[in-house]
Amino acid sequence: MMLSSVLLVLLQVCSLQLMVVSKPACQLRGDLVQSLHHVLRDLGGDFPAHCLPYNNNISFPNSALPAASANHPQCRRALWVVYESLSEAELIFLNNDSPVGEGGVTWDDQKLEDFQTRLNRLVEDGRCLSRVGDSVSPYFTNVTAVIEQQESTACGWSALKRDLLWVLKSTLHDHRTCFTWLKAH
Ligand SMILES: *[C@@H]1O[C@H](CO)[C@@H](O)[C@H](O)[C@H]1NC(C)=O
Ligand SMILES: *[C@@H]1O[C@H](CO)[C@@H](O)[C@H](O)[C@H]1NC(C)=O
Repeated sequence: MMLSSVLLVLLQVCSLQLMVVSKPACQLRGDLVQSLHHVLRDLGGDFPAHCLPYNNNISFPNSALPAASANHPQCRRALWVVYESLSEAELIFLNNDSPVGEGGVTWDDQKLEDFQTRLNRLVEDGRCLSRVGDSVSPYFTNVTAVIEQQESTACGWSALKRDLLWVLKSTLHDHRTCFTWLKAH
């Protein structure tokens, strides 16, 4: 009698844990991340050569992303880096004038608007993710500093676009299965 009730409790604990492991509470949709990548890519404007010196100020910590995501913690880390990067970028867009305009970048206005709408949606979706590992916010502090200086603002925005593209592209490639993909009908 004793033994069987202990077993029963153990079984319940095990199945609870299984549910937690097999059912991620929070997800980012792969198709939305992929369209965000494409819109960002198509904004226009290559990285200007005269902005190269700012690479000393702005260098994305590539090692923040796991090399590959074979397991659950690596997936959670990869999704966190994507989410944190997107939400930091959203803040930069909120707190600064439009990057397009005098002294700024030559991005397509309409596509930029589309990008920001998609960005806000994904940041909303990812709010339930929890932080795993180090924050990438020191990188975004540096980007903000460069954007806030009038003479370097276009370089700051260009670097932000380049590095966000890299984060999205490499996670879509190396951590594809960490995202949620809708089944085709
Ligand atoms: C931030 O900028 C400083 C120089 O101002 C640089 O030494 C540091 O590597 C930069 N960090 C990142 C993550 O870009
Ligand atoms: C870039 O970093 C240097 C130090 O490495 C610093 O003196 C300079 O103010 C930074 N530039 C901007 C725009 O933040």
